[in-house]
Amino acid sequence: MTIATAPGKIILFGEHAVVYGRPAIAAPVSQLRATAVIENSKTRDVQLIAPQIQRRRSLHNAPDSDPFAMTVRLFVEAAQIPFVTNLNITIQSDIPIAGGMGSGAAITAAMFRGLAHHYNKLDILEPARLSELTYEVEKIHHGTPSGIDNTVVSYEQPLFFVKASPQNQIEPFTVGKPLKFLIGITGIRSQTKLVVSDVRRQWEADKKRFDLIFDGCGQIATAARQLIQLGDALQLGQLMNQNQELLEEMTVSSKELNSLTQAATQAGALGAKLSGAGRGGNMIALVTDESETAVHQALLQAGATAVYATTLS
Ligand code: PMV
Repeated sequence: MTIATAPGKIILFGEHAVVYGRPAIAAPVSQLRATAVIENSKTRDVQLIAPQIQRRRSLHNAPDSDPFAMTVRLFVEAAQIPFVTNLNITIQSDIPIAGGMGSGAAITAAMFRGLAHHYNKLDILEPARLSELTYEVEKIHHGTPSGIDNTVVSYEQPLFFVKASPQNQIEPFTVGKPLKFLIGITGIRSQTKLVVSDVRRQWEADKKRFDLIFDGCGQIATAARQLIQLGDALQLGQLMNQNQELLEEMTVSSKELNSLTQAATQAGALGAKLSGAGRGGNMIALVTDESETAVHQALLQAGATAVYATTLS
């Protein structure tokens, strides 16, 4: 039996604008993970089992669009083996589904890791290779993903990311002082693909205005990286609030996300913004040791269905 995992993620700065080539910052959330368990079985086929969504499928019956099946097929190709057989692959995840925390990318990366260990194809574990393979599956979930989700779950480090051709810019950076974030879950599922395509529709209708909004997000992400390196939480919080305003202009915030970000700032957070695609999913608030409890309570009172803490260090 082989067990492998991959983390969830939050986008600290630059979501949506990152799809248009502006810089963004993302970090893994190590305590929320997706797990893949690979076991040999007596039956010849490969069973893809996801108890949390009551799904059990044979690989040979799975449609091409099934992300679990696609992961196995891509693995076979990448590992240069003829086929896989006699396997049960069970997926479990602590990461909220459609919550803007990269659950799809984490499940895929965990499956690739598990299969790579099981078949002793260790080159597939190399972060750049793992990220590249995970990206292929992300395209089913997201349509035109920037690549930030698969990158951060594969590298498992805070990253400054710029989508670029032929190669994305991927820069891990140091964190001057640990920064604590609370993640507030709205409980409303966010369909990244739909939100991303709606932003594209708006950009196409008014490129001049949207390019300026995206430029603003990119400048904020670049400045934020310096502040994280310096450990300047106070100014970083202000940049989060500014990024949230730009996301509201893109119309990707929502009533629920606005009330959670407002509740967090009123309760003493240094800054707050939605994280991920928006229109649901999650938001993040930067807190201090003194404000953490009050912000946590305020988020629950304002309707968060769950609140997680994560430290960037
Ligand atoms: O909702 P999530 O966690 O999948 O984040 C999507 C981030 C976007 O910038 C909106 C899309 C992308 O592909 O980068």
